[in-house]
Amino acid sequence: MKILSVVGARPQFVKLAPIAVAAEVAGVEHVVVHTGQHYDDNMSQSFFDALSIPAPDVNLGIGSGNHGEQTGIMLARLEPVLLAHRPDWVLAYGDTNSTLAAAVGAIKLHLPLAHLEAGLRSFNRRMPEEHNRVLTDHAADLCLAPTEVAIGHLVKEGLAERSVLVGDVMVDVLREVARIVRERPVESPIPPDASDYVVATIHRPDNTDDPVRLGAILASLGTLGRPVYLAAHPRLVACAARAGLTLDQGDVTVVPPLAYPQLVQALGRAGAVVTDSGGLQKEAFLMGVPATTVRPETEWPETLRDGWNALAGDPADIAKLAGRERPSTERNAPYGAGDAAVTTIQTLHERRLS
Ligand code: UD1
Repeated sequence: MKILSVVGARPQFVKLAPIAVAAEVAGVEHVVVHTGQHYDDNMSQSFFDALSIPAPDVNLGIGSGNHGEQTGIMLARLEPVLLAHRPDWVLAYGDTNSTLAAAVGAIKLHLPLAHLEAGLRSFNRRMPEEHNRVLTDHAADLCLAPTEVAIGHLVKEGLAERSVLVGDVMVDVLREVARIVRERPVESPIPPDASDYVVATIHRPDNTDDPVRLGAILASLGTLGRPVYLAAHPRLVACAARAGLTLDQGDVTVVPPLAYPQLVQALGRAGAVVTDSGGLQKEAFLMGVPATTVRPETEWPETLRDGWNALAGDPADIAKLAGRERPSTERNAPYGAGDAAVTTIQTLHERRLS
């Protein structure tokens, strides 16, 4: 069996890591195509290095652009690569523009398409990620869902026959990396003796692109009453500069985007997380750190149970929510047991079309 993975943005490199290992162990031929959507070292290469992911077989070198332009150029450059490899499965990950390009590229060539992290919904049609995930699920021959809730969405949309619950590969990679950094701590911009701080990230266009909203978010982060390490995505840096806003207000220290092991290590000693990232709110849940999500909704409603995650749709709520007590309840395991990548490769074998 030959699988061709298409990745391009930071969260996809994280998901690729356990899939690459499971594919290798199963003796599956695995071609990795990087679209080049993320290209800074600390947004891309550092993830390949830290997670020991084999170098991509192909890098399409796309870079930034408007949504249509970026996705369209990916599609054009992907087509000859797909034709040259003719894999048994094109595997698309998550919900970025690289995901959509992989989906459209595959189906136009009648190549079987599998979507990892299928069935997530925010029901917010303003989010580019929502378009990408809905379109990719409906194009896919196989929807690989991380949770029961995601399966429920796919069933409602008439995709039950094509859907399989495999669990969440983010559990696989988080567990492994948490074990490694416990044994061998990594260098990090967050001092090793710091504790009970807040890890913050903000990058979604809905939060960064409106100067008034961004200003309110940054002002709140400065008033949390404990150290805040703000790992600043390039979009955040650019939008703040354009709006004349200062990132390091009050107790905020700005640090560059963290490599994955640095992030996992940072969560180990954090008191709270404030984020608009899908991945980080779930990583916080898995590590037992209360998260405040700066969005009106979440694709990961399981994290909300017992207050492990709280939604701050209004930036005025961030300080109060981020200061809340850590819940004392046990967390259940809605994201699986850490074997999602192995199950994914098995499922791709079982459901192979050709
Ligand atoms: C993308 C995904 C989002 C994901 C996020 C993780 C889409 C629609 N969105 O958003 O779902 O949560 O990645 O980070 O695909 N930039 C750099 N260097 C880089 C990468 C980006 O400077 O290495 C700049 C770009 O020039 C652009 C901005 O950051 O101005 C946004 O990058 P882009 O990849 O378009 O989207 P993200 O906001 O990162």
